[in-house]
Amino acid sequence: MSNDQATILVTGGAGYIGSHAVLALQQSGYNVVVLDNLVYGHRELVEDVLQAKLIVGDTNDRALLDQLFSTHDIAAVMHFAAYAYVGESVTDPAKYYRNNVIGTLTLLEAMIAANIKKFVFSSTCATYGVPKTVPIPEDHPQDPINPYGATKLMVERILADFDVAHQFKSVCFRYFNAAGADPDGRLGEDHNPETHLIPLVLMAALGKRDSISVFGTDYPTPDGTCIRDYIHVADLATAHVLGLEYLLKGGDSQLFNLGNGNGFSVKEVIDAAQQVTGRTIKIVEGDRRPGDPPALVGSSEKAIAMLGWKSQYADIHQILTHAWNWHQKRHG
Ligand SMILES: NC(=O)c1ccc[n+]([C@@H]2O[C@H](COP(=O)([O-])OP(=O)(O)OC[C@H]3O[C@@H](n4cnc5c(N)ncnc54)[C@H](O)[C@@H]3O)[C@@H](O)[C@H]2O)c1
Repeated sequence: MSNDQATILVTGGAGYIGSHAVLALQQSGYNVVVLDNLVYGHRELVEDVLQAKLIVGDTNDRALLDQLFSTHDIAAVMHFAAYAYVGESVTDPAKYYRNNVIGTLTLLEAMIAANIKKFVFSSTCATYGVPKTVPIPEDHPQDPINPYGATKLMVERILADFDVAHQFKSVCFRYFNAAGADPDGRLGEDHNPETHLIPLVLMAALGKRDSISVFGTDYPTPDGTCIRDYIHVADLATAHVLGLEYLLKGGDSQLFNLGNGNGFSVKEVIDAAQQVTGRTIKIVEGDRRPGDPPALVGSSEKAIAMLGWKSQYADIHQILTHAWNWHQKRHG
């Protein structure tokens, strides 16, 4: 099947990472249908910026899915739709199991019924829990420390079982911290509420927040703050197209980490943001948060070797520059 003919369903395509994946798919010649309930997504990014077909609906709606699969010739599904607030998953786990696990199971059953058996899934480094080794390889034990990570691990397990039962082929990408924005400024991160470090820092630089909180300055890291692996959202999107093409060519189910390979501390990110924005950002130092490991950095060697993926924007200044351009346009 040539790219011109293949139609890909992108669930959660009105969200941050999903919208960048829609753009990457379109640039590679695919037709895209987006399914998003718009609880967190942005209609105008899909309809006006990407000019893709948007179906407003929920992955828990089996009748809608059956109708969608009978009216569109879908070759594969990229599944970004999920709730992803770790703290909320601790206080309201049912919301997360219902949306992330039951919603995905409903989608998978509808796919099997429609004989669509290729699936690219947004998993997360949160499935590893507190790492025993850094950089984390894919065969590191998985022991999530919050319900959000548990929901993603359950889906990974369901996918392995569906492969055995139904020859259902999936690529699971365990992302580290998605960051940055479309280099051409068309798309970017706009979560509400926002919990991610880079947009929070940039909102402080824009004067939309008073300060940025740094949780813990006594970690066993060079400057005492937590180290995380920030991967550019456009690099994530590229990896999704490669993962899809691997499946369309008949590839077997696989799991891949997607990270930058480099960690940056909270202080390094704030310093780089001050350089990129030319603004002073007020820092408020606080205590450590429970469950925050000192360093989370992934090894992406497998994706590099098997998919030929390569991160194009590994430099934290470049990630911040793209995010800053977007934030000024969106919130300035
Ligand atoms: N942002 C990160 O750093 C990160 C890291 C690891 C994994 N992930 C995963 O990547 C995916 C995308 O994350 P994001 O940051 O773009 O989040 P996002 O909230 O911006 O996007 C998710 C989209 O899915 C939609 N959605 C949620 N539940 C739905 C449902 N049941 N039916 C239809 N639509 C639904 C939301 O409206 C939203 O538009 C999620 O699965 C998340 O768990 C994100």
